Amino acid sequence: MKPDMISLRGRASIACALGALALVCGTMLLTPAYSDELAADQLQGSAPYIETARRYLQSAEQKIIGGHPVLPGTHKWQSSLQISWVPSGVDAHFCGGSLIAPDWILTAGHCMEDLKSTDVRAVVGTSDLGKSAQARSVRRIIVHAKYATDKSNLVAGPHPVNDVALVQVFKPFEMNAQLQQISLIDTALEATIAQPNQEMTASGFGATKVGGKPVAGLLSVDVPFVSRETCNRPQSYDHAITDGMICAGEVNKDSCQGDSGGPLTYHPLKDDVVQIGIVGWGDKCGVQNKYGVYTRVSAYRDWIAACMSSPNDLAKCPRK
Ligand code: ARG
Repeated sequence: MKPDMISLRGRASIACALGALALVCGTMLLTPAYSDELAADQLQGSAPYIETARRYLQSAEQKIIGGHPVLPGTHKWQSSLQISWVPSGVDAHFCGGSLIAPDWILTAGHCMEDLKSTDVRAVVGTSDLGKSAQARSVRRIIVHAKYATDKSNLVAGPHPVNDVALVQVFKPFEMNAQLQQISLIDTALEATIAQPNQEMTASGFGATKVGGKPVAGLLSVDVPFVSRETCNRPQSYDHAITDGMICAGEVNKDSCQGDSGGPLTYHPLKDDVVQIGIVGWGDKCGVQNKYGVYTRVSAYRDWIAACMSSPNDLAKCPRK
């Protein structure tokens, strides 16, 4: 389900409806600089990208649910993927990610679908999108070969599967006290901790309510792990949850729009954190039985490692 493309006419008519002079509206439509800014190829891309672009262009008024601000200097791997042509970080943020190597960010497939590397800027090392941070242009985007939208489940609705992507930046980020990469969970550790009610942490710059816009300050929320069996019950997602997904959350504790691509983490020991999931999808946010669904990192570890070491080898790193 691809949202409508933002059209130049759409923007101009909103400006006109807001009371701008007809002359001004007409001029806007004809100004070359303006139409350059809105060149059609910039207005294609993933759903989160287009939604963010639309919000920016229309100045539409319309976060993590039930979370709290993170302490500065924690969540040092949290990344923000931003629209390259939107200046302010808060306006430009469309998805989260996690830094897994100095030049690689792990995110969701549905965040990067249909985007070109020039569409995106990667930002790390801050818990406040309003503050300056390390920003990089993108060298390559790799979306999992089997990433797709499953439309067959009527209870769950259309939702992503194999929802994983990698973003490589041109120049590696400089590691410092505010910035650290996160390691990915392996199946052995996952087996011991993926137990009902085990607390995990989701973080992001996303909306704090359904239909809300992203926030400047990074939030995190502790969410209990939910078994696949529970998550697959008819009142939840009725068998839409595959082995490539895990569920977590409870009423009023969830990730939400704009958090996609960001990490679900687990702290086996103090000062030691691993990533267990990638924020993926869910029916609304923080609603009973409608848990947050995360891409199961352990299921994609081999693909991730192969793509980081052989990004040009299509046999080792199959991608869209
Ligand atoms: N798909 C959303 C995004 O693009 C994330 C939704 C997560 N939803 C949830 N209820 N946990 O930002």
